[in-house]
Amino acid sequence: MKLAVVGSINIDMTVTSERIPLKGETLMGDSISYIPGGKGANQAVAMAKLGAEVEMFGCVGDDENGKKMIDNMKNHGIKTDNIKILQGVPTGIAMITVAENDNTIIVVPGANGKVDKDYIDSIKDELKNYDMVVLQHEIPLETVHYTVEFCSENNIPVILNPAPAAEVPMEVVEKVTYLTPNEHEAVLIFGKELTTEELLKKYPEKLLITQGSRGVSTCLKNGEILNVPARPAKVADTTGAGDTLNGAFSVQIANGADIKTALTFANTAASLSTEKFGAQTGMPTVSEVEKELQ
Ligand code: RIB
Ligand code: NA
Repeated sequence: MKLAVVGSINIDMTVTSERIPLKGETLMGDSISYIPGGKGANQAVAMAKLGAEVEMFGCVGDDENGKKMIDNMKNHGIKTDNIKILQGVPTGIAMITVAENDNTIIVVPGANGKVDKDYIDSIKDELKNYDMVVLQHEIPLETVHYTVEFCSENNIPVILNPAPAAEVPMEVVEKVTYLTPNEHEAVLIFGKELTTEELLKKYPEKLLITQGSRGVSTCLKNGEILNVPARPAKVADTTGAGDTLNGAFSVQIANGADIKTALTFANTAASLSTEKFGAQTGMPTVSEVEKELQ
């Protein structure tokens, strides 16, 4: 099974401090790290660590950060040949503050903002070789929707993780195979008219709503609501937990797991990932997840 991620590649500039500063406040921090991130790249790394064959599609700038981020993905065995290196724009950067039980992130998209329809046109033949395409919201939304359209026309299953939060047109919702918002993102997409349960019932085995430390929910094809509770974690850093969940879920589904097995596995993988600092460092291997599930 081969998976393609079309999405963002960032360097995470992460500072740790005792708490998140208030508006206008200056705080003394404890540490700074420059580590690989970006929702797209994180999801690709989560998949690769779980043993999947993965290609990353996206753009970086012609700078040191871009080279480092590509090398990091190569070191994880991810195919990077079709990542475009752009002149005159920086590689995406996320400025992250990690405090106890909390984080804040500001993303400057840089090259991620240039992942456009022309780029997608240039990789269409490649995408046809994949069993599943995984997308997020850190590249221009029109590119995301265009890619969904292409995948649907070509019968390529597609997972859309609508993070960061932004509206998703209903025709796009119809065309994706899985949509994985958190509760906040779900409200932005579907409004507040329906309760979570009603919403899940409307999109059985398509809509998966993640609820952080409360786990993840979906509705099975037989109409039963499935809540997979989260595994309790000794949290060091939740950055990238959602990416781990999406990556792990994609690998499981691509390998033919049923939705309950896939979600249970993905949820445990996400929980494990929070126990180490950084988005990618704590992402588990298959045996690490299986050990927890025994
Ligand atoms: O989902 C976590 C990611 O979001 C971070 O790695 C950061 O790059 C931001 O894009
Ligand atoms: Na982590």
